Amino acid sequence: MKTRITELFGIEHPIIQGGMHYVGFAEMAAAVSNAGGLGIITGLTQPTPEDLANEIARCHEMTDKPFGVNLTFLPGFANPPYAEYIEAIIAGNVRIVETAGRSPEQYMEAMKQAGIKVIHKCTSVRHALKAERIGCDAISVDGFECGGHPGEDDIPNMILLPRAAEELTVPFVASGGMGNGKQLVAALALGADGINMGTRFIATEEAPVHQNVKDALVAASELDTTLIMRPLRNTERVLKNEAVERIVAKEKELGDDIKINDIMDEVAGVYPKIMSEGTMDAGAWSCGMVAGLIHDVPSCQDLVDQIMGEANDIIKARLSAFAS
Ligand SMILES: Cc1cc2nc3c(=O)[nH]c(=O)nc-3n(C[C@H](O)[C@H](O)[C@H](O)COP(=O)(O)O)c2cc1C
Repeated sequence: MKTRITELFGIEHPIIQGGMHYVGFAEMAAAVSNAGGLGIITGLTQPTPEDLANEIARCHEMTDKPFGVNLTFLPGFANPPYAEYIEAIIAGNVRIVETAGRSPEQYMEAMKQAGIKVIHKCTSVRHALKAERIGCDAISVDGFECGGHPGEDDIPNMILLPRAAEELTVPFVASGGMGNGKQLVAALALGADGINMGTRFIATEEAPVHQNVKDALVAASELDTTLIMRPLRNTERVLKNEAVERIVAKEKELGDDIKINDIMDEVAGVYPKIMSEGTMDAGAWSCGMVAGLIHDVPSCQDLVDQIMGEANDIIKARLSAFAS
C-alpha cells in the first residue's frame, strides 16, 4: 500500500512502531522494519549517547531497511544531553526521528541540516499545527486511547483524526488504540496516511520483553487500563495492577496536593523490573486500551501481514460493495 507516509519514509507498509521505553531495543525496531513497517529505537532507554550509537549499530546489523530513533523531550526537571543523542543518530546514519513530549523546536535545525525526517507525536491539533510550523515532516496524532501519555485534552481518535485532517498539510498517522486492519482502514478513512502502534507491538515474538508482559497483554481487556498522574498534569495510561492501585489511592487521598515524590516508588526506575524481569506489579507501565484487541503473540511479520491483508480485503470487498 502506497501512502504519503510510505513515500516519506521509504517503507512498504504504512505501519510505524512508536518508541517505547525498555521495549524499543534494536531487536524490536529491526523486526518491525524487516516486516516492512518502520521500527523505532527508543533513544532515552540507552543511558548515554554512546550506548545509543551502539544500539543503532546493532540495529544496522539486523536490518538493511529504514528505521528511526525516538527522542522523548521530558518535562523540565529531567535534562538528558539531547544534542549529543542527535549527534549519535546522525553519525549512526539514521535519517528518521520520532520526537515526543515537549516541542523539538530547539533541535530542528541540527536535524534538518543532517537531512533527518522528523515525525512529532502530538495529542492535540494545536500542538500538531505548531509542529508543522517548525518544520516537522509528519505528525503522529496520539488519541486518548493511547498507551503512555495521552495529554490532558481527552479527545479520542474518532474526533482527533478528522480534526487533524481539517487542519494539517503534512501527512499524519493515527496513533493510539491501533492494532488491526479494520482500524488501519478506519484511520485512512479519517484522513490519516497510516498507523502508529505501541502496545500491539509488545505482544509479538520478537519484542525483547519478558513473557509475563506479553501474557498480561493477551489476558487484559479494554477495561483494564486506567489513567494516573492527572493531578500532576503528566497523565499516563497504564495497565491496572497493585502498584497502580496504590497510586490511585494516593491520588484520591492527597488530591491536587500530590507531589511526584509521593508516588516515586511506583513510577521511577520500574521499567527494567517489569519489561526485563517480568515482575508485573513492580510499578506502573504504559499500556493502551487496544489490549482488549490483543489475543495472540505473532511474529512482527505475521502481525503486519495480517493487518495489511485484512485492510486490503476490507477496502476491496466490504467498502467497495457499499459504494453506489
Ligand atoms: C510500554 C510503553 C512505553 C512507551 N514509551 C514511550 C516513550 O518512551 N516515548 C514515547 O514517545 N512514547 C512512548 N510510548 C508511546 C508509544 O510510542 C505510542 O505512542 C503509543 O503506545 C500508541 O498507543 P497504543 O499503545 O494504543 O498503540 C510508550 C508506550 C508503551 C505502551
